[in-house]
Amino acid sequence: MEPGFDPPEVPGGTGAFGLLGQHLAVCLELQASRTASWSVADGMAPIGRPAAASSPRCGIVHGPSTSSAESEDGARGLWVAWSRRYAREVTDQTHGFETLAIHAGQDPDPRTGAVAPAIWATSTYKQDGVGGLREGYEYSRTGNPTRTALEGCLAALEGGARCLTFASGLAAEDTLLRGLTRPGDHVVIPDDAYGGTYRLFDRVAAPWGLAYTPVPVTDVEAVRAAVRDGETKIVWVETPTNPLLGIADIAALAGVAHDAGALLVVDNTFASPYLQQPIALGADIVVHSTTKYCGGHSDVVGGALVTRTPELAEPLAYLQNAVGAVAGPFDCWVVLRGLRTLAVRMERHCDNAERIVEMLTGRPEVSQVIYPGLGEHPGHVVAARQMRRFGGMVSFRVAAGEQAAVDLVSHTELFTLAESLGGVESLIEHPGRMTHASVAGSPLEVPGDLVRLSVGIESAEDLVADLAGAFEAVRA
Ligand SMILES: Cc1ncc(COP(=O)(O)O)c(C=O)c1O
Repeated sequence: MEPGFDPPEVPGGTGAFGLLGQHLAVCLELQASRTASWSVADGMAPIGRPAAASSPRCGIVHGPSTSSAESEDGARGLWVAWSRRYAREVTDQTHGFETLAIHAGQDPDPRTGAVAPAIWATSTYKQDGVGGLREGYEYSRTGNPTRTALEGCLAALEGGARCLTFASGLAAEDTLLRGLTRPGDHVVIPDDAYGGTYRLFDRVAAPWGLAYTPVPVTDVEAVRAAVRDGETKIVWVETPTNPLLGIADIAALAGVAHDAGALLVVDNTFASPYLQQPIALGADIVVHSTTKYCGGHSDVVGGALVTRTPELAEPLAYLQNAVGAVAGPFDCWVVLRGLRTLAVRMERHCDNAERIVEMLTGRPEVSQVIYPGLGEHPGHVVAARQMRRFGGMVSFRVAAGEQAAVDLVSHTELFTLAESLGGVESLIEHPGRMTHASVAGSPLEVPGDLVRLSVGIESAEDLVADLAGAFEAVRA
């Protein structure tokens, strides 16, 4: 046995690892004959989910189990091998979100017992004779055990069949578009979205031949009117949207997309899998910039795709290997470490955001506070149904206009003036001139008086005092 790899016979034992480990061994044998239950619903009671939604964990596997990863069947062959690592459970037993975050995909090392996942800094793997791959590993663009661990964990947290991780969120989005659409196809996109996502559609995919229509994804009927039967391949939503925090009704939009023969893709970056699980609500693919809440510490750039079925992942895995925008082992390890504390961080992000919203609501300098947790937010009812809580992102409009907003974001001390979001430290930015500068003049242009906060997990009263101080400083 090669050091560090799972042995062919999975060790038993007691406790969570032993129990979960035993399931590993039988997964492959069982997955062709039964649909596994891999639900985190028991641990996530507050999140609404339609009864019809299901999250098969170990899907039907096709293809040979020993094919070379560089061959046409490589991705399938690897999926068979990697299923051993993903499929930690094939009974009706379920685990809570926090348990999955700490254990899914992360067995203690069978040789040393190390409880923390290893960083597999290797480009290649010894073969036992030509084509004799151990656990399917051949070359690290195609597969790496640290990446496998992260992908297994994130698939479990999103309730998906399979996860693929990338060098950035945009690399994941690019692979999704090129893997599942062709020139001449049409996609529906949000009229409020991360500027880089819009740039990808407008400046990269459109010249390639992919038509797109921006619509308010907060309006189900507007989306229905925009889909073209047979032509629309993807309805793409963010929810909450970036930066206006609009809420898309995932279950309703899944119906609209599926009626038109399209897939529903949900960018779940703002909510994180702790607050919202789109696949359980009917989405087909979840997108993450793992740079944000999944990593959680502003120290890594990464992306992920999680698919409802193994089949949906096949063209994406093929392209991931063929194009190669993969996440490196160290980056995977950093994101995996972040996921382990996602639940507690998100609770604190939400607590602090609520306190900031309370403070902003009373300020005369603020003309509008935008937060899905507020009763007057137009998406509040849907958000309450499909999210556990309302998140750590808060936007607001400055009554005195754009220049006052620009001045304000330069006058905080704890809130760091910076792009990005989802880290433990609080960030403040002016979307119109920063994250969303690339959508100026487009249907996605954002108001000039808008300020966006990524509320961190510092002491809430310090954050309140910091913002109050900035308002005072700008007024002086
Ligand atoms: C909602 C959303 N999706 C995708 C991305 C792109 O991710 P990355 O910056 O990791 O490429 C971002 C980046 O800010 C984002 O905010």
